[in-house]
Amino acid sequence: QLDAGVMSALGGIHVFPQLDSTNRWALQQGQCGDVCLAEQQTAGRGRRGRQWQSPPGVNLYVSLRWCFGQVPEHLPLLSLVTGLAVAEALEDCAIQGHGLKWPNDVYYDGKKLGGILLEAVGALEQIVIGIGLNVNMPAQAGRGIEQPWVSLQMASGKLVDRNHLAAAVLNRLLPRLQGFPGLDMVQFQRDWQAWDVLDQREVRVLSGSDLLEGLASGVDHRGQLRIKLKDGLIKNLSSADVSVRI
Ligand code: BTN
Repeated sequence: QLDAGVMSALGGIHVFPQLDSTNRWALQQGQCGDVCLAEQQTAGRGRRGRQWQSPPGVNLYVSLRWCFGQVPEHLPLLSLVTGLAVAEALEDCAIQGHGLKWPNDVYYDGKKLGGILLEAVGALEQIVIGIGLNVNMPAQAGRGIEQPWVSLQMASGKLVDRNHLAAAVLNRLLPRLQGFPGLDMVQFQRDWQAWDVLDQREVRVLSGSDLLEGLASGVDHRGQLRIKLKDGLIKNLSSADVSVRI
């Protein structure tokens, strides 16, 4: 069930049996506050131009078009803040043991549970926030996925109600979006640390053609990953440049 305050802040809730991509729909047809859900996506979009496997009836594919009055100061943190909302929503659905892998992955037991893809409309004050979660996807349906993945059903041992989950995500996301223009950095960093699966772990980072090794040490105010290198230097890395291996 959607909280009353969330309901009034949202526009329409559009549910489709099939779409190419809920993000594409929200970008091209959505209005401010509109939510778009699909049972299946035929061209689900992932980060870095990848495809997001979106078989019918088993997962959550949701996009929200959100309009800020003006471009918020901390815009690069929005996808991380969305991650916080998703992690909290899973907890609200009695899922445990999950975390966030910088920048945009929801993780469980070293495997990907879901991802977040933000796309901007025009002048950046309108954003489409896309969230994909593997909910009850059977192993066979996820055969083509290139990286290790897991579903909420596998993680929790029970079938997860997708309507309940979608409402939980929106109930957590909306207040975070409403508070985003006045984001408290200290609180954000504390919240991020609570879910950060990389925190204080040895990571290898491919940055361009350089391989860096160091200790992951949270994120900075731009959402960049902080790595403490072997020589003690701290390097901040942007998600556009790097891919991280634990
Ligand atoms: C990633 O690569 O990790 C991001 C995946 C984001 C997938 C979601 S599913 C709902 C929304 N619509 C899309 O086409 N992509 C996002």
